[in-house]
Amino acid sequence: MTIKELQTPAILIRSAAMYNNLKQYQQECDANKKQLWPMLKTHKSTVIADIQQNIGATGFLCGTLDECETLCAHGVENLMYAYPVAGAVSCDRAVKLAQKCNFYARIDSIEGARQLNTAAGMAGTTVKYTIILDCGLHRFGMAAEKILPFAQEMKQFDNLEFTGISTHCGHVYGEPDADKVPEYAQQEIEAVHKAVEDLKGAGFDVKMVTSGATPTFKYTVADEYINVYHPGNYIFNDRIQIANRTVTEEECSLVVYATVVSNPREGLLICDAGAKCLGLDQGAHGNSAVAGHGSVIGHPELLVTSLSEEVGKIQVTGTTDVKIGDRIMIIPNHSCSSANLTDYYILVNEDETVEQVIRVDIRGNSTTKGI
Ligand SMILES: Cc1ncc(COP(=O)(O)O)c(C=O)c1O
Repeated sequence: MTIKELQTPAILIRSAAMYNNLKQYQQECDANKKQLWPMLKTHKSTVIADIQQNIGATGFLCGTLDECETLCAHGVENLMYAYPVAGAVSCDRAVKLAQKCNFYARIDSIEGARQLNTAAGMAGTTVKYTIILDCGLHRFGMAAEKILPFAQEMKQFDNLEFTGISTHCGHVYGEPDADKVPEYAQQEIEAVHKAVEDLKGAGFDVKMVTSGATPTFKYTVADEYINVYHPGNYIFNDRIQIANRTVTEEECSLVVYATVVSNPREGLLICDAGAKCLGLDQGAHGNSAVAGHGSVIGHPELLVTSLSEEVGKIQVTGTTDVKIGDRIMIIPNHSCSSANLTDYYILVNEDETVEQVIRVDIRGNSTTKGI
């Protein structure tokens, strides 16, 4: 079957680009003797998790407890949940994960720790954790100088085992000037160094030093302290990664495949992919450097400028040979969002044949969980 026979809109993954991306990051980790624990939330698929493990991934960082539980049931050994847990239901789930696999929670408050500690104590078990270091994103965690006093306070919890620190340089996505990306990586490294040196100086055994974001990966992968990297978007890339000059168009593996369905006036085409395929966001943390909602591969004269739910307006600058009925491949602004808007990906070869249909089987609220 070739892609010409597919219905549109469809979410395609260009197989060669995806495998190249996966191998490149794995090779960088291997060459620097680091572990790669890809962030699963980008693709939310056990099939792709298997591919990443076969290429060499050691574990996974998960964006939801659903992802952790599904991968655990799938037989994955090493799992970390990216965000703090709180409340009896979530703490209980984290404790069960800790009983079934090599699971790590992340902690950034004494109250959250108390709740998790209570749940672990009731189950008669221990949960391993890292402390969340804020290297500039100002979402979770604490600044480097607060890590040591916090780690000391955490010693009160008998059912929680300190293993290290975790950070994520997500604020790099808000930077419109691509030349500044290395400065964000430097911030990430400096925060990690301060926290690790303080902890080691006070006698803490810092086993896990985890960090990672696709744009800063190449500047931080050789760092002496970070030993686990968890980029997520690198498998697909997108227009945000093009804008911050992490990749070129060829390295964007996820594309939205659409048909041009109307040409209502000169300079305007309309395709059958809208916000429910392309997503409306401008990347993980917003970025004014990215204009519109998608670029069209091979057609620099076309830009997706606005989206209705199921259709997209494409502005034509100058002339184009694209006409009603033609198929186009659109690179979305934020591939993680497009990936979360489909039940399956279609893996395609360079000769445009379909290689495999891949289910997106770990999306949020996709099962009732026995309610
Ligand atoms: C805590 C954390 N770590 C890692 C990642 C992966 O970052 P990226 O997709 O930029 O590689 C994310 C993405 O949101 C994240 O929230």
